[in-house]
Amino acid sequence: MAIQKSLLTALALLGATAQAAGVSGKAFGFATGTTGGGSASAASPSDTAELTSWLTDSTPRTILIDKEFNFLGSKCSDCKCCKPSSNTCGSSGQNAIDLDSSDWCGDYPTLTCTYDKAALEGIDVASNKSIVGVGSSGILRGKGLRIRNGVSNVIVQNIHITELNPQYIWGGDAITLDGSDLVWIDHVKTSLIGRQHFVAGYEASGRVTISNNEFDGQTSWSATCDGHHYWTVLGYGKNDKVTFTGNYIHHTSGRSPKLEFNSYWHAYNNYWYNNTGHAFDVGDGTNALIEGNVFNQVDTPFLEDSSPGQTYAVSASDKSSCDSALGRTCVANTLTSSGELSASDSSVLSSWPKGESGISVVDTSRVQSSVLANAGVGKLSSSSKRRRFNAPPQGAPNLPIHSSAGPGAAPTGPPPTWSWRTVGTKPTPPPFGGPIPGGFPSGLPSGFPTPSGFPLPSGGPQSSGFPGAHGGHGHHHHGWGN
Ligand SMILES: *[C@@H]1O[C@H](CO)[C@@H](O)[C@H](O)[C@H]1NC(C)=O
Ligand SMILES: *[C@@H]1O[C@H](CO)[C@@H](O)[C@H](O)[C@H]1NC(C)=O
Repeated sequence: MAIQKSLLTALALLGATAQAAGVSGKAFGFATGTTGGGSASAASPSDTAELTSWLTDSTPRTILIDKEFNFLGSKCSDCKCCKPSSNTCGSSGQNAIDLDSSDWCGDYPTLTCTYDKAALEGIDVASNKSIVGVGSSGILRGKGLRIRNGVSNVIVQNIHITELNPQYIWGGDAITLDGSDLVWIDHVKTSLIGRQHFVAGYEASGRVTISNNEFDGQTSWSATCDGHHYWTVLGYGKNDKVTFTGNYIHHTSGRSPKLEFNSYWHAYNNYWYNNTGHAFDVGDGTNALIEGNVFNQVDTPFLEDSSPGQTYAVSASDKSSCDSALGRTCVANTLTSSGELSASDSSVLSSWPKGESGISVVDTSRVQSSVLANAGVGKLSSSSKRRRFNAPPQGAPNLPIHSSAGPGAAPTGPPPTWSWRTVGTKPTPPPFGGPIPGGFPSGLPSGFPTPSGFPLPSGGPQSSGFPGAHGGHGHHHHGWGN
């Protein structure tokens, strides 16, 4: 009897745990309606094989990441790398993996190197999945995630993706979107990534919300030779609508973010800290609405692109025109110990798409402390107590702080980096070599990733869809590389 009773109690407790576990909050912004695995009961995979199987199968799932899944160990010891001219600092710089499928390395001196092959390509997540870390223990070490080729309805929350060959350009991307829809990336931390912390494109990424994440650029292998990571956020998808809010982007030196092609990015209430290069580079075709952000020690908040898109950055002096165009209270950005952010293309306001729900933009006086307290992994419970940005239950703006900003403010997204797409005009090399006088990143080795040079591991299994991976996909026009 007593045994039965305690068994029942234990079962009840287990049930309670399973029910409590799962996604926190609801998708808001452009990704409103994303449900991931929905009501699928939460379960923890036992090892990397089971994790991979659950991520890639056709069953809607709530996958709990309650420990570290370590994908390291697939090392090649006699692989080919090259030393790009951007690496002027030897072992504290980034060399590049020389993939057979890419001619990116061009004439750079070749080297023998060792890296983890598993990191080069992320796991291809299938539709209708929630991937949720437990506490601060959910770690993917040595492999990222890809959401592409028609996949939709995916939530990634509260996990840390780290150690993707950080020594090497083309070492791996943490999160890739390429031909997707309805994706919510929330409370994720990325660190020690070889290539992009986040990349979208070239196919459309549809409706996306990127909220409360920590993009940690601290590295011992810096393409800019200063301990900061250059390849941070790249938005190259077409027809993307992206809400980018509550994120902490720190110790980077470029592409934070770089945006191009026909997309809308609303970046609001983010905190940029200690960026030795550029934050936004908004290229051709992209509309960026940048408001209520804090830039602290950011060398170049907004890079002059040689082929610029449309950007509206809310400033105190023109706030009223934003208010009237959007029918709500817009919030000016705040910059301290930073360069300038001046962009007032009001076509962004008049063409702003519908569908970005449940957002509210708060005054910048609250942004730094709120982002530091809530962004990244292991912060879900503190977030719900403190009212983190966004994610209001049921769309009700529970945004903490709203000060003067009424409900309904919409976020914008930023992008950066110069583009090398202008054929015939060699983009000044970015990262390497340090900021050019005009704030332009200098030093990008010629040969920076050109389109065709997308580093696709030859023979790599899921190369399809990788930009530049193959000819018939229509992806050979631009480089993601620079
Ligand atoms: C995902 O879920 C939706 C809604 O239940 C369903 O219509 C769709 O077929 C699912 N997708 C896949 C790939 O299972
Ligand atoms: C900011 O970055 C610079 C350049 O890398 C570094 O010297 C400095 O220590 C950083 N400051 C902080 C507070 O991390």
